[in-house]
Amino acid sequence: MTWVRVATTAAVPLGEMLGVSVNGFKLAIYHLDDDSFRATQNVCTHEFALLSDGWLEGSEVECPLHAGRFDVRTGRALCEPLKRDIAVFAVEVRDGEIFVALPQ
Ligand code: FES
Repeated sequence: MTWVRVATTAAVPLGEMLGVSVNGFKLAIYHLDDDSFRATQNVCTHEFALLSDGWLEGSEVECPLHAGRFDVRTGRALCEPLKRDIAVFAVEVRDGEIFVALPQ
């Protein structure tokens, strides 16, 4: 596992999300209402859509293509048409920078 810098905290305002590509991973970075930052894979597990193009409500992200919803804290798929969860990654904030733990 490697900690990789993905964005500044300023780039992800409260209640918003940001799609980034790092080390071959497409990630969605979320800034939740409780002021925590979270990271998941950005590609939906149903078909090809980027979750960061959808909507973040509380701790749930809604896919822009068929409205599947995931809990971004656990990666859990919450409704049809989703069958598979998304991957979640550990996040740390250091001096205004967001780091995500990625597999090597
Ligand atoms: S592509 Fe995400 S719900 Fe279908």
